[in-house]
Amino acid sequence: MDIIRIKGTRPLRGTVAISGAKNAALPLLAATLLTPGTHTLHNVPDLRDTGTMLLLLEKLGASWERSGTSVQVDTTGLSGSEAPYDLVKTMRASVLVLGPLIARTGHARVSLPGGCAIGARPINFHLRGFEQLGVETILEGGYVEARANGPLEGSTVYFDLPSVTGTENVLMASIMAQGKTIIKNAAREPEVGNLIDMLTGMGAEIDGRDTDLLTVTGVDFLQPVEATIIPDRIEAGTYLMAVGAAGGELTVTGCNPSHLPSLVEKLHGVGMYIEGRGDSFTVSCPVDSSGHRCSLRAVDITTMPYPGFPTDLQAQFMALMMQAQGVSIIHETIFENRFMHVAELQRLGADITIEGGSAIVRGVSRDKICGAPVMATDLRASASLVIAALAASGTTDISRIYHLERGYENMVKKLKDVGADIEKMAG
Ligand code: EPU
Repeated sequence: MDIIRIKGTRPLRGTVAISGAKNAALPLLAATLLTPGTHTLHNVPDLRDTGTMLLLLEKLGASWERSGTSVQVDTTGLSGSEAPYDLVKTMRASVLVLGPLIARTGHARVSLPGGCAIGARPINFHLRGFEQLGVETILEGGYVEARANGPLEGSTVYFDLPSVTGTENVLMASIMAQGKTIIKNAAREPEVGNLIDMLTGMGAEIDGRDTDLLTVTGVDFLQPVEATIIPDRIEAGTYLMAVGAAGGELTVTGCNPSHLPSLVEKLHGVGMYIEGRGDSFTVSCPVDSSGHRCSLRAVDITTMPYPGFPTDLQAQFMALMMQAQGVSIIHETIFENRFMHVAELQRLGADITIEGGSAIVRGVSRDKICGAPVMATDLRASASLVIAALAASGTTDISRIYHLERGYENMVKKLKDVGADIEKMAG
């Protein structure tokens, strides 16, 4: 299996271009199922997860073609309604085909995803939302079967927690329901807004974009659409923190600085220089003539739904805090098991204790962070290992890097181009 080898303590300098957002590309690709015809999506990242979603669309009878970062999906020949276990187990977001299949055909059969490395992650909110629209759902043999016996009826759907894919799934299911659907406590993540823009382009009527109260007025007809995936805010945030770890100065282009309000605020507290202007960030963490990077201050974070601090940046922030001055309390409120990276960061010299949903990170001096073989456990945990390795002396070999390839386009090349000593090699 391939590994990534990093020799740390090299400052980063230059420009990194951000790719389209994985977590926007997945629902937008699924949304092409809503209506027959050829849809064109731009800025689609070439990732393992987008490949899995395209494979699933193919299994459902769609065809697609990629040209650069644009993907055309023709969903005219829809012939299936099942997302099988072998795909769903590699990518939970496969459940996003439920909403559009229900809306278009009144039927879908999707494997239940089961637990994953970051927590139990049930889909009960999605199913309750569908039921409120008049869809019958049955769980059998590890699959959920959803069936509408007649047109869907608009209704009020309340989420106990603002679920991102739950909001997206119920939105897609409801856009052709009779009457109005009101979604309360909806997720406000920018990726939901990106989907709303695409659905509106198809002819849907949705009010309340960027708020937690969405009102969908059902329409009878949708048309194929052309839409653009927003920049990946999690990828951008990961590179900002890589500069904090390695030192240096980067321009991060092709991103939307307004999508990272909480991270920018926290990194200012850490002592880094960051300026977002237009579609780019300038970020720096000076390195003195003897190669010592500026010192970082410990800052606490609590993960929250948008616009709070994203759980998808928690592991990377922890990698930064392991070498800050002072103690940082990292409180994870979204996923109960999202501390798998702690044991791996400890192998690199971190001083971290877990107490319930919090990690107490006592910063250690940079000379105590040394390379070691480590193992990636999930996508964002992998990114935290890369960040820690960029700061570590000596060599770090990261195995199970297929996790990283699910969500970061060309990370090795992007880091190498700005001065990191990083290689992908056969392990
Ligand atoms: N939840 C339930 N029941 C549900 C749905 C969610 O209890 O039916 C709970 C979850 O267990 C969690 C909270 O609600 O405690 C919020 O989870 P959410 O549903 O928002 O997560 P998701 O939609 O499954 C998306 C991203 C994740 C990201 C989370 C939180 C996609 C494809 N995935 O997952 O991305 O961490 O929102 O922001 O959009 C990643 O990219 O690495 C990743 C895991």
